[in-house]
Amino acid sequence: MNINEIKKRAIKEIKEAESLDDLENLRIKILGRKGELTQVLRSLKDLSLEKRKKLGSEANKAKKEISSILNEQKTRIESKEMGSGERIDVTAPGKKKLRGNLHPISHILKKTEDFFTSMSFEIVRGPDVETDYYNFDALNIPKDHPARDMWDTFWLKGFANKLLRTHTSPMQVRYMERKTPPFKIIVPGRTFRYEATDASHSHTFYQVEGLVVDRSINIANFKAVIKDFLKSIFGENVEMRIRPGYFPFTEPSFEIDMRQEGGDWLEILGAGMVHPNVFKAAGYIPREWQGFAFGVGIDRIVKLKYKIDDIRLLYSGDLRFLNQF
Ligand code: DAH
Repeated sequence: MNINEIKKRAIKEIKEAESLDDLENLRIKILGRKGELTQVLRSLKDLSLEKRKKLGSEANKAKKEISSILNEQKTRIESKEMGSGERIDVTAPGKKKLRGNLHPISHILKKTEDFFTSMSFEIVRGPDVETDYYNFDALNIPKDHPARDMWDTFWLKGFANKLLRTHTSPMQVRYMERKTPPFKIIVPGRTFRYEATDASHSHTFYQVEGLVVDRSINIANFKAVIKDFLKSIFGENVEMRIRPGYFPFTEPSFEIDMRQEGGDWLEILGAGMVHPNVFKAAGYIPREWQGFAFGVGIDRIVKLKYKIDDIRLLYSGDLRFLNQF
């Protein structure tokens, strides 16, 4: 085979090659130790000087040409193979990561829990679905007591005596049944009322219950704890006042109002000294123990703290609202 023929065929084959493996095989076949062109170059030694010179330079030229076409083709295949995968444009602008933030209710709940744990209260949690015994009877609200009307109730269809707890107070007796005083607990949780929704009412809301029981606990203890709690949320300038109130599970009962910088007084929690009948329901001897209890509406605190006039915003899931906190 003459040099030209070898060259022509080699170039054609190289151009048709589709993979780096194909190319390598061709290189060996043409330029390798036993390759076609190598054979030609080797056979030169048997020729006359003149022929050797002529064919020698032709063969070397062909070798160079083939090598450079091999290289070209190699680069082409390599870049094609890379391009088929993911290509990263390091100069493209980055994607901004969205940062989440706590829902205002979660935020106030957390601050509340932090405050009370710092006062060595234990955090306990109770079930959303309660029995009417713990939600009412054990709290000194028997079956046909008119006070049941204070809590519009979602009853569970098909489950006798089951309801969605209307307040966190049922955990008072649940906890006392299992424990012996002294103790200090709070019960954060979701509560439910069968109510029409408007700017200040929601069928689902949050409360934090508090219960402190020991041999001698008095209203002054309660006042000090609540005052410090309100300061931890609203700052030093918060004022509070105590009014008489009525709850079947406390005697005496009171309502706590607060105001900031001489604004209007707003009711923010119910409280009182634990009623002897509640101690009885828990199996305690009422004469031996004293305690105070309170229930804070967390939504109400959130509304006051962030000056939100419509409670429905808190449950809307609207990010334009939630991202402001
Ligand atoms: N459970 C009451 C309510 O939801 C609030 C309350 C009042 C809780 C007085 C108490 C308390 O523990 O002592 O309306």
